[in-house]
Parts: sequence; structure tokens; C-alpha cells
Amino acid sequence: MKYINKNYSFEKVNLEKLAKRFATPIYCYSNQKIVKNIKNFKSNFKSFSPLICFAVKANSNTQIIKLISKHGLGADVVSKGELMMALKAGVKSKKIVFSGVGKTSSELSYAIDKKILLINSESKSEVLEIEKIAKEKNKIVDIGIRLNPNTDAKTLNQISTGKKENKFGVNQKTFIELVNYLKKSKYIKLKCLSVHIGSQILDHKPYQKMLETINKLIDKIHYKFEFIDLGGGMGISYQQSKKKLNYKKYNYEIKKFLKKHKSKIIFEPGRSIIGNAGILISKVIYIKENQKKKFIILDAAMNDLIRPALYGAKHKIIPLKKIKKISKKTYEFVGPICETTDKFLTINKFQILKEKDLIIICDVGAYGYSLSSNYNLRTKPIEILVNGSKITVIKKRQKLKDLF
Ligand code: LLP
Repeated sequence: MKYINKNYSFEKVNLEKLAKRFATPIYCYSNQKIVKNIKNFKSNFKSFSPLICFAVKANSNTQIIKLISKHGLGADVVSKGELMMALKAGVKSKKIVFSGVGKTSSELSYAIDKKILLINSESKSEVLEIEKIAKEKNKIVDIGIRLNPNTDAKTLNQISTGKKENKFGVNQKTFIELVNYLKKSKYIKLKCLSVHIGSQILDHKPYQKMLETINKLIDKIHYKFEFIDLGGGMGISYQQSKKKLNYKKYNYEIKKFLKKHKSKIIFEPGRSIIGNAGILISKVIYIKENQKKKFIILDAAMNDLIRPALYGAKHKIIPLKKIKKISKKTYEFVGPICETTDKFLTINKFQILKEKDLIIICDVGAYGYSLSSNYNLRTKPIEILVNGSKITVIKKRQKLKDLF
């Protein structure tokens, strides 16, 4: 991913030609970058070889999951749809964990039939529901209980999950009650303590705090968990943030924890595997000027990428073809949707753009396409996977007739 002779190249693919061939907007992913991210992730924690379950919600394209699974990763799913997709992509059921606060009876029943590794349960009622279904099926089901450790992940409020006011997991009191209850259950085997404190975490200290909380809790209850599922949440560098998560320190804290508690560690990373491996290519439809700024109206909109509108997330925007002339006016990159929040970024210094120019919105591999919608009855974009000079369409552009 770099400029060659002022043209942005994605592996060995010329993006201008790609845009001409397939039209825009295009979600485009780099095979090499995904593989590199997987290797990095594994090597950060190689001393205790964790089970790494890719959080399918970050990107649920079958071919992407297939590729990730080929490199040994399992899947973290949160719905029957994601579970079916992971199985379809070839993920082994014994490498699948199922999280979520509101799994329905039919979803639980399906997961039990598929004999997945763990159902990570998030409430007393859910545990009782699993027990009821297991009894009816006369099966023993392996589960985890998700603890809400009341840890501030120091990330955006909208993507924090581990504070006591958040809906996720159970508090320590309920956790202990459930452990005691399940010791006597004939149909449920409690194998895992799971946590997930939030997403886009760049500071290792919240993880450290979370581990201290789990450590104290296990000391108190004297229960041997076969698995400790630490969730995902590892952040990546978007836009201006040069801050990086210190994996060495996180790894050190886990190793310290494992000296006392011998369990297999599970991770559920999404963003750190796929976030920086995807771009969104878009074309300038119109440019409109007022006294203060120029609106660069793109053919991509908040229905294609909702992160800026939903969380105020800032994704870097770069030109597909570089020129030297810089605009004197501020550029505001917007989409065509009838909402003021349909705005990607405001940039003071950008090269002069003209209508029909192509731009790239960076780092959209995670929570990009998977959060897209048909708002304003707009069709979803095409998804393309690039490997060297090989181009594979991994999801066709939606057609209007699919929506009627
Ligand atoms: N495990 C559980 C139980 C989760 O809820 C999540 C994300 C993950 C793992 C993966 O987290 P990651 O490694 O990707 O941070 N739409 C938001 C992010 C929401 C994350 C929801 N849960 C965004 O665009 O930033």
C-alpha cells in the first residue's frame, strides 16, 4: 500500500484501473496485510499459544473468514447468522465461541447442536435457558460466563463494554452465585471465564486492571477454569493518533497471571486483524463551494461507512493520484445522504481535487462493510480481495432490484 509514480498501489493492483473496471465505491482488502496482521498477533503472544477467535462482527465476508481461518484462527460470533457464516467458511466448531447478551432459545439450540467450543453466557436467565435446552436434548453443554469487571477501557464511551453501567456480562456477586450453582448442574460444564472490556483500546493499563480483577476473583472462588477468554479490543492507529497498544506489556501481564492460574487463553480480536487491511475507494461526484470551505461530495456515504457519523471516528483520506498543488480552501468530505452527519472528514490541507477524481478512505477493514446499510435505498458496495496482482470479487455490488 504505497504510491508508485504518484499512483496509489494496493499490493500490485493499480486502483485507477480497478475503479474503472468495477465502478465506485469499492471496499478493497489486502490479503498480504491480513496475513501479516495475523502473524504479528500470534507472535505477540507466542509463549502461551492462545486460541485466537476472530470477531466476525468486524468483517463477516465468507472469503475473509475463510482466509483468516486458513491461518489457524477460530471465530467469535454473536448471532446465528455469524455462527452459520463461520461454519460455512470452514471454521471448526471447536474453535468457535458465542458471545452476546440476548441469544434466543433457537440460537442457543443451534449452537448446542453444532457442538461449538463455548457459549459465553451473559446472564443468570441465559444460563438457566441453556440448562433447560441441554436437559431437553439430554446433552452436556460447555459454557463460559462473561464477567463485567467494572474496568474503564479508556476508549470511546460508545464502544466501552466493561464498566458496571454497561449491559454486558454479570457482576462479581452474580458470577460467584452462578459458579456455585453450576458446580451441581448435570447439563452444564462451566469451563471459561470471559471478559471483553471494549474496543479500540490503546492503553495496556485497563487490560492490566482487568487481569488483576480476574486474578482476585479466581483466588476467592477457588475454581479451575479450563479457559480464560480475554476478548478483543486491541486498537489500531487511525488518522492522527500515533499511539500504539503496548503488546509487550499486555503479554507480560498475562504471563504473570498464567503463572498462578493455568488456563488456556482465548482472544477475540476483530479490528487488529482486519482494520488496516481495508480501504474504501470513492469518486468525487460534485464540488460545491461556500465562503469558508469546499464540500467534496463523494459517491460513498454514511450507509457505506457509518463510523464517522456514529462515533465521530476519523478515517484518513488520501488522493488516489498525487499532485503537488495544495488547495487554499478547507475541504469537507461528505456523502450524498440527506443527513448532516453524512460527513467523513474536514481537512485544511489537501491537494486540489476536481470532480471525478478518486480518493481513498483508509483503515476501513473492520466495522466498515459489516456496519453498512441500505439507508436512502442505496445499494451496498462491492468487496474485492487483492493478493499480489490477483483480484477476487468477494461480494458483488448489490443491485437495486435486490431491494425491491
Ligand atoms: N469480543 C466481543 C464480545 C465483542 O463485543 C467485540 C466487539 C470483540 C470481541 C471484538 O473487538 P475488537 O477487537 O474488534 O475491538 N462498531 C465499533 C466497534 C464495536 C465493537 C463491538 N464488540 C467500531 O466501529 O469501532
